[in-house]
Amino acid sequence: MGKRAIITGITGQDGSYLAELLLDSGYEVTGIVRRLSASNYWRIEHLLDRITLRPADLLDQLSLVRVIQDVRPHEFYNLAAMSFVPASWDQPLLTGDYNAQGCTRVLEAIRQVDTGIRVYQASSSEMYGRVREVPQTEQTPFYPRSPYGVSKVFGHYITVNYRESYGMFAASGILFNHESPRRGLEFVTRKVTDGVARIKLGLTDQLGLGNLDARRDWGFAGDYVRAMWMMLQQEKADDYVIATGVSHSVRELVEVAFRHVGLDWQKYVRLDPAFLRPAEVDHLIGDASKARRVLGWEPKVSFERLIAMMVDADLARVAAQPAPAGAVR
Ligand code: NAP
Ligand code: GDD
Repeated sequence: MGKRAIITGITGQDGSYLAELLLDSGYEVTGIVRRLSASNYWRIEHLLDRITLRPADLLDQLSLVRVIQDVRPHEFYNLAAMSFVPASWDQPLLTGDYNAQGCTRVLEAIRQVDTGIRVYQASSSEMYGRVREVPQTEQTPFYPRSPYGVSKVFGHYITVNYRESYGMFAASGILFNHESPRRGLEFVTRKVTDGVARIKLGLTDQLGLGNLDARRDWGFAGDYVRAMWMMLQQEKADDYVIATGVSHSVRELVEVAFRHVGLDWQKYVRLDPAFLRPAEVDHLIGDASKARRVLGWEPKVSFERLIAMMVDADLARVAAQPAPAGAVR
């Protein structure tokens, strides 16, 4: 009999890759989905006959308890969140309710049903914000710069607190930006690769972006979900930075993506102040030495390969279905 796992956020980028990994490792996978007026299963369409979906919501403690009681999982991955940083200024209270108290609800629900369930919390490099140290490690103090970052600091520390207060196996992964062809269209990598595809196919001739100087440590989501799983296979729960250790600016991202299809980005990219943020995180770069040493984890996909993979996927998708993407700030 394989292990059982519950994933919140299974309809998101990471949830879909993690579900694939767990299924391939022989797990029974249950995904928590919130009720929407239209289904949102495009990332897990190919998995629907191998997974079980259960309705529940991070805002509803009893719904979480019910699913955990029914499934009795060995592992619980809390990936659900309001994950888009700009939206957190528009909806700071909801962001806190999902990401901070939502995490507490998950931990409480697990504590109520069975403290032996291993839990993973999706923490973020956004917690470092105005960075106190370069590169960032598990010891670097946090200085979040958005309501999203603040909510994730709460989620991180409440996870540490449940580990220390109740002896629960609660691990927090401090993941740096990770991307894929399944990334939401509003995040900068996907916005750029989708824009490049539309420009290459003659559907538009411009791409409006915000801060081109921001630097991020971008990796491939498929590599990062492997680290989540590894964290829950250890003897002791702990916190780990997951990153490539290489950073690039948004400008470099744009150059690489346009070059991949033989175009000069300067002819198409314009600054749109609507995409500037009230407070920016200028430069994130992680030191994943602990994860390499303890978990044996390392990233396999380089930045250049990742961007090429995303541009190629968007070219194929847009060519097959050239509907306008619609700008989301
Ligand atoms: P994503 O694609 O935006 O997916 C978010 C998921 O959360 C979706 O499945 C969404 O469901 C679900 N969700 C949101 N609110 C919910 C609620 N109230 N109840 C139940 N489910 C809810 O995010 P991602 O990129 O996969 O990231 C996964 C996690 O890692 C997030 O917690 C994110 O903050 C964190 N993280 C991401 C990165 C990164 O670079 N990707 C880096 C560090 C940390 P719907 O489909 O219904 O919207
Ligand atoms: N989204 C977006 N759109 N970002 C832009 C744009 C634009 O048009 N132009 C420049 N940027 C810059 C942003 O200002 C930011 O500095 C950088 O590109 C990356 O933005 P996002 O791709 O939106 O990601 P993020 O770094 O804010 O947040 C992501 O990574 C975090 C981990 O560090 C999200 O996945 C978070 O959920 C995650 O925690």
